[in-house]
Amino acid sequence: MKKVILTGDRPTGRLHIGHYVGSLRRRVELQNSGEFDNIYIMIADAQALTDNFENPGKVRSNILEVALDYLACGLDPEKVTLFIQSAVPELTEITFYYMNLVTLSRLQRNPTVKAEIQMRGFETSIPVGFVNYPISQASDITAFKATVVPVGEDQLPMIEQTREIVRKFNSIYGDVLVEPDVMLPSNSACCRLPGTDGKAKMSKSLGNCIYLSDEAEDIRKKVMSMYTDPDHIKVSDPGKLEGNTVFTYLDAFATDEHFAKYLPEYENLQALKDHYTRGGLGDVKVKKFLNNVLQETLGPIRERRKQYAENIEWVYEVLKKGSDEARKVAGATLDEMKAAMKINYFEDADFLKDFSNK
Ligand code: TRP
Repeated sequence: MKKVILTGDRPTGRLHIGHYVGSLRRRVELQNSGEFDNIYIMIADAQALTDNFENPGKVRSNILEVALDYLACGLDPEKVTLFIQSAVPELTEITFYYMNLVTLSRLQRNPTVKAEIQMRGFETSIPVGFVNYPISQASDITAFKATVVPVGEDQLPMIEQTREIVRKFNSIYGDVLVEPDVMLPSNSACCRLPGTDGKAKMSKSLGNCIYLSDEAEDIRKKVMSMYTDPDHIKVSDPGKLEGNTVFTYLDAFATDEHFAKYLPEYENLQALKDHYTRGGLGDVKVKKFLNNVLQETLGPIRERRKQYAENIEWVYEVLKKGSDEARKVAGATLDEMKAAMKINYFEDADFLKDFSNK
């Protein structure tokens, strides 16, 4: 069986370092591994509209921003297909047929949907499009017969729901669809990078994100004002690692090579952590190290991003070509599905024969 990846992001803002450690970095590795037959990366604008339908301008203005973030991280249009969800209407048609296979209560039990309903205050009146988005996400994945979906932990319920839909479809109509596997980040710090203020989630509205497009000085300021251990007041105090954002970021980003280069008096992160918990290590020193690590990682991304932004017509063509390509693939799956569902009247020579033989 072919090995196929599909994944994507909602274009509701520029991408930040949480996206980077949670998925972008991995995607580039997977792309370069040469192990996959096809890799599809989708800008999920239709899904973004499910909770931003009153604000289409926001979605529109972030399409190219997200595309730039992708390219800046090293996703290569020669190796992956980058496309826009709404430019592949076949996905909507597939969604429509899947809607028969899922109950409303199952959707409302989806833990991610449940949390988002609460967060958005949708409890009393949930837009149908919003509760439906796990089904639409199942279409995104299955239209490309993806075998692997690399995502953050918060997307696990979506993949589970997709697998259920695949099993149900195949058991009713015959084996057409492929059950995908999830691929989570390997390092737990990467699963959910907190905001710079220590809050659980990075969010634009909280102003606690470091963006891939941030200038060096912005990164430095954000790092130097990061949340650490509030009880670590004097340098000599023993410090706590748990909930200490600076150390969580180091878990996600720092390598032994970074230590050799910027902080050679420590062999590795464990040695730094030991000193911190013992006492005698100040926050400023740790933050300066983290700043060096982040500057080294993000500098080249920011510079590449600027170069691509200067060639924005080329980026536009990449998305257009990718979306055309994605349509072909999703269309072929949709044709197979319709044949299995026996609703392919005009492609099916037996359709009239069945009538005459009645
Ligand atoms: N739900 C994903 C997110 O919020 C975006 C997304 C849409 C997606 N369709 C997908 C991810 C299909 C993986 C596969 O980030």
